[in-house]
Amino acid sequence: MSEQLLSQNQIQDQRQSAIAVDDVSFYWPSGATVLKHCSLSVQPGEFCMLLGNNGSGKSTLLRLLAGLLPQQLGSITTQGPVGFVFQNPDHQLVMPTVGADVAFGLVKEQLALSEVRQRVEEALSAVNLQHLQRRAIYALSGGQKQRVAIAGAIAQHCQILLLDEPTALLDPDSQIDLVQQVQTLVKNRGLTALWVTHRLAELDYCDRAFLLENGALSDQGDPQRLKQKLTTTSLVN
Ligand SMILES: Nc1ncnc2c1ncn2[C@@H]1O[C@H](COP(=O)(O)OP(=O)(O)O)[C@@H](O)[C@H]1O
Ligand SMILES: [Mg+2]
Repeated sequence: MSEQLLSQNQIQDQRQSAIAVDDVSFYWPSGATVLKHCSLSVQPGEFCMLLGNNGSGKSTLLRLLAGLLPQQLGSITTQGPVGFVFQNPDHQLVMPTVGADVAFGLVKEQLALSEVRQRVEEALSAVNLQHLQRRAIYALSGGQKQRVAIAGAIAQHCQILLLDEPTALLDPDSQIDLVQQVQTLVKNRGLTALWVTHRLAELDYCDRAFLLENGALSDQGDPQRLKQKLTTTSLVN
């Protein structure tokens, strides 16, 4: 009976989660296992971080969540549209100017021009870049480029942001600016975010963190506890 109740609670929890990963494993065609029985959930409005050494499977998990890789074993559910922010914005931004790039992501929605304009302006204001709408992408800093990528997701009304080491190419000041800005966006707009990093300073801005080790989820919970634990281990700071 109690077992039955527990599983009903778990099912309820999965249904309410913005992101639910249940017993997910993933193999490359070579047969190499990259994810082993991973389960985690992120609640609506939460800002969570995913930590782990190089090669532990963080990007693979994020790509599965975004539907960029085909699911194999286990189940993944996401509530609402998902936006992805890559480590290198030069692999993501395709148009010559800021405004055109944000608008480009809306092409498939076939909106009226006035609606496109309004969404672009609103999304750029959300990341404090409305004054750079006509700026050439090449003239932006790395942090500004990442904010354009995030504006693209906001313009598409994404409810979930997946960010794969978005600060890896940024200097320390821009790194903290970006993480603070994403924290504010998540809280003010009721978004949900899963942010991959190996920089422990960023843990100060999230609600909860997960640790991947060799493809398995080895720990999760309070970011400060994980920060403390990882400060004394080999994880790169
Ligand atoms: N396309 C691929 N084909 C085969 N193996 C891959 C591919 N992409 C990544 N891998 C391997 O999968 C493992 C996990 O990679 P990844 O998810 O990128 O880790 P992380 O993001 O934590 O550094 C690594 O051993 C990596 O070499
Ligand atoms: Mg990676």
